[in-house]
Amino acid sequence: MESALDWHSALALLDWQVDLGADEAIGDAPVDRFAVAEETPKKAADNAPVQIVKRQEIDAVDIARQAATQADTLDALREALAGYDHCDLKRGAKSLVFADGNPAARVLILGEAPGREEDREGRPFVGRAGHLLDRMLDAIGLDRSADTPDRAVYITNVLPWRPPQNRDPEAEEIAMMLPFVQKHIELVNPDIIVLMGNIACRAGLKKQGILRLRGQWSEAFGRPALPMTHPAYLLRTPHAKRDAWADLLSLKARLT
Ligand code: URA
Repeated sequence: MESALDWHSALALLDWQVDLGADEAIGDAPVDRFAVAEETPKKAADNAPVQIVKRQEIDAVDIARQAATQADTLDALREALAGYDHCDLKRGAKSLVFADGNPAARVLILGEAPGREEDREGRPFVGRAGHLLDRMLDAIGLDRSADTPDRAVYITNVLPWRPPQNRDPEAEEIAMMLPFVQKHIELVNPDIIVLMGNIACRAGLKKQGILRLRGQWSEAFGRPALPMTHPAYLLRTPHAKRDAWADLLSLKARLT
């Protein structure tokens, strides 16, 4: 079909749609939804048998708990997550973003959820915020690709699927994923957890208000935890980097 758009405008429009979360073409022919809406469904005959459709109640959190409990290795946990179909975010995401780094690391970083780059690559923290995170870690001698547990970090998120338009995860989504996060932490068994931002604090501490919580050592998932401001926030708010630096030094001191 001929298009009135030039190449650059067409690309910009496609990019915009990808930003909105529409990243898959599902049909070649356009559908006129207004015309479809006008076709009213046929009325059932008065003497037609009444069909009672019983809605099956499912407890998505309980199913998540059972799936997570049965996983005894990180590979099995990844499989269990891949097979979990009760979180709608999965349907809109390209990838399951499980983790990155060294599972033997002393430090586990818990982020929020994948963004666009992470969804594309299937690895956490690989976009702009991820690059800043790598530089922050480097400043205190930590590195996600390090072999030695003292220098390494392990990185995962509360949610393994990208929320549409990078919206904040909903309470039910966090609750569904929590059994998997708990099991993930148990299997990696880190000495310290860094809670990156409000969503990680909601999952780990049942609290939010990162600007109050940051820098205060607490306990999450049964181990010492340090809430820190998220690198995405630091990109938007450069003056907050000073406090983040203090938190990094506190992390480094705790590791020695
Ligand atoms: N922000 C997060 O919290 N996690 C990611 O993986 C990427 C961005």
